[in-house]
Amino acid sequence: MNTVANDARAAGARVGLSGDTITINGGRPLTGRIEVKGAKNLVTKAMVAALLGESPSELRDVPDISDVRVVKGLLEVHGVKVEHNVAEGTIKLDPVGVESAHMVDIDAHAGSSRIPILFCGPLLHRLGEAFIPDLGGCRIGDRPIDYHLEVLGSFGAVIEKLPTGIRMSAPEGLVGTKISLPYPSVGATEQVLLTAVRAKGKTELSGAAIEPEIMDLINILQKMGAVISVDTDRVIRIEGVDKLEGYTHRALFDRNEAASWASAALATGGDVFVGGAQQAEMLTFLNIFRKVGGAFEIHEDGIRFYHPGGELKPVVIETDVHPGFMTDWQQPLVIALTKAQGVSIVHETVYEQRFGFVDALIKMGANIQLHSECLGGHPCRFGQRNFLHSAVISGPTELHGADIEVPDLRGGFSHLIAALTAQGTSRVSNVGIISRGYGDFITKLRQLGADFEFEGE
Ligand code: EPZ
Repeated sequence: MNTVANDARAAGARVGLSGDTITINGGRPLTGRIEVKGAKNLVTKAMVAALLGESPSELRDVPDISDVRVVKGLLEVHGVKVEHNVAEGTIKLDPVGVESAHMVDIDAHAGSSRIPILFCGPLLHRLGEAFIPDLGGCRIGDRPIDYHLEVLGSFGAVIEKLPTGIRMSAPEGLVGTKISLPYPSVGATEQVLLTAVRAKGKTELSGAAIEPEIMDLINILQKMGAVISVDTDRVIRIEGVDKLEGYTHRALFDRNEAASWASAALATGGDVFVGGAQQAEMLTFLNIFRKVGGAFEIHEDGIRFYHPGGELKPVVIETDVHPGFMTDWQQPLVIALTKAQGVSIVHETVYEQRFGFVDALIKMGANIQLHSECLGGHPCRFGQRNFLHSAVISGPTELHGADIEVPDLRGGFSHLIAALTAQGTSRVSNVGIISRGYGDFITKLRQLGADFEFEGE
């Protein structure tokens, strides 16, 4: 097993999901209706925001995914009472008894997710100290936390790196500041928001990420009592307040999950209604989906994605921060591109190593070459650094069944799609890791008529 697969397996094991295998008989179009719930990349942050309130919060449309369970565990070891009603999709979070956690309890969460870094600001405000374990998350690049540490330092946090993690304190409290991010990082923008809302005085953030999930986090913080304005040109201004209360909020839908099922519908020649999907947050995806030859209908309660017949067409895609084409959308769509008539290019500009998933596709018969040059678009941060971050996909190719192993969350979903489209049978192992971000995906595959057997542990 290679290192990426090892890392993925270890990450799966840490959230208790390792070893699950699906055997898929490919060749059946996915058809039917499924529902998407709240966005993983908002829900997990909204749960952290509850730490800032003086009263309980309630979040609705919470998906049943393991990243939610990891954050729940981490909140609980810090004294937050968490009631997760999985059937209703609600989470109640009572932060009234927040306390410092025992090191050993925090350590039990080491390597399970990237969310713990976002606990720092809220914990520093409430307790004057914070400790975060080694971070987990998908191995799709180096994923440093230098922006986070600079942000926290500039609010006045004292940072001490230890062999087991990072300890922080705020002996003088946290004070508003001026920050300019070198790159519009989603996590670092969230770090600023979650810290600035209770810091003394004003904070100005330039170079902010403006993903819809960040805007929804701002909605939540405003409900709690925060004063935040979003200006043009990626500038966010926050006026710190002394006190925040709990919130009640329905989470924004998961546009990454919606795009994944849309790509599955197209690649399998199917027809899938994604309940809960909304047009505004998917504009860029919908444009590309149409250019590849997919069709969609916008309804009030969701979007129907389908293959209208005819040939699929090649496209040139450059992933980017919002409002560009999201990095999380490329892996599932690549399977449809293996079926397109001609040469497609995907230039990945957000993560330097997000093509680990294509080895398995090549094994299944795809014609994909990886390049270290910036192909098909503008030069990006990775161009001179020898990372294989541009993919050239020549089609159409028929995929055939194979034994493959899921390397990461989005790559894993693309492996499922590959197996669903392939001639013959595929054995896809380590699919547990897909549960980090796709709620009930086994049930949804059944609802859409996929032919498979699931060997869960
Ligand atoms: C979030 O990751 C999402 N994760 C990712 O989704 C998503 O792909 C990404 O945003 C981009 O939209 C969560 O929300 C939990 P970043 P995040 O900070 O916040 C570099 C998924 O599968 N960087 O915007 O970690 C970094 O290396 C996941 O759902 C630094 O250099 O992403 C990357 O190249 C995967 N230093 C770029 O910025 C830092 O301190 C963007 O990362 C922080 C980031």
